[in-house]
Amino acid sequence: MCYQPGVRRGTVCSAATLPYITAMHEIAIAATADKPGLYADLLSALDGLTAGEPDAIANMANAAALLWEYLPDINWAGFYRMVGGELVLGPFQGKVACIRIAIGEGVCGMAAQSGETQVVADVEAFPGHIPCDAASASEIVVPIMVNGAMFGVLDIDSPRKSRFDAEDADGCEKLVALLESRLSAN
Ligand code: SME
Repeated sequence: MCYQPGVRRGTVCSAATLPYITAMHEIAIAATADKPGLYADLLSALDGLTAGEPDAIANMANAAALLWEYLPDINWAGFYRMVGGELVLGPFQGKVACIRIAIGEGVCGMAAQSGETQVVADVEAFPGHIPCDAASASEIVVPIMVNGAMFGVLDIDSPRKSRFDAEDADGCEKLVALLESRLSAN
């Protein structure tokens, strides 16, 4: 039922009763897809979600929500942005997290410093790992470059050791490449 002001009680919400909702996004993720198939579906969904939308916060927020809903065995998915020479927390899903990370510190800071994806099988074995959630056991961080400059990182944590592998790195890098192309439209 529709509980919007000005709409008669008992009315079912529709595009007519909610004119500010202009589109419902159809997300098609195959439940049985293998890892490359899952990332292909996610890429296609992210393409649809971000097409024609240049706002970085909106696109990162939807990307985080998409990964959170469809990637199995994760306890955090989100972004840190380069602001004033350090990484600052951006849109994410999961428990509250560290707000600022210096370049070179932790897995995120290392990805931003090196410009290379970090796949960490055991966060306890990573020197300087920053534990935002004690449940995190493994992590992947992908740097995001926009217009030739470090824009930030995509960070995903898992409560399971060795959760991320080369297929995750490949899939996440493709998702980030798509985001980079959307963000460079700014
Ligand atoms: N573990 C990260 C910090 C960010 S949280 O995982 C959300 C790191 O070592 O950089």
